[in-house]
Amino acid sequence: MKIAIGCDHGGISLKAEIVPLLQEMGHVVDDKGCYSTESVDYPDFAKAVCRQVQKGDCERGILICGTGVGMSMVANRFEGIRAGLCNELFTARMSREHNDANVLCLGARVIGFGLAAEIVRAWIGAEFAGGRHQRRIDMF
Ligand code: RB5
Repeated sequence: MKIAIGCDHGGISLKAEIVPLLQEMGHVVDDKGCYSTESVDYPDFAKAVCRQVQKGDCERGILICGTGVGMSMVANRFEGIRAGLCNELFTARMSREHNDANVLCLGARVIGFGLAAEIVRAWIGAEFAGGRHQRRIDMF
């Protein structure tokens, strides 16, 4: 699938490891930045990724900042975006199965690459269960 990814300076080192992982998994990555460790504002990158998902140019998005909190707050302000901050595996899987999350937020200062890679694999592989969960999403 085509996946948009974005980060701020706090997430750039983890993004640099997640992008090749996604490519090795066979996904097409649309990297919306940032591209250096210079201090930047995370809302700019959350917006760039969420717009790609909203437009349908990308099926999913991944956002990485220091904690993942700021990115998730911004992303969830966009119509049609269901962003989940998932710094552990169970939430990552459930955010897909129960919430049909289309954006994954990660905290690069909270977790290392090993766990982040497992979270990304679980999040991409998990399917939305539909049924009562769709009814609840329709109530947003
Ligand atoms: C940047 O210092 C930091 O505030 C940002 O990466 C993120 O953690 C915000 O939620």
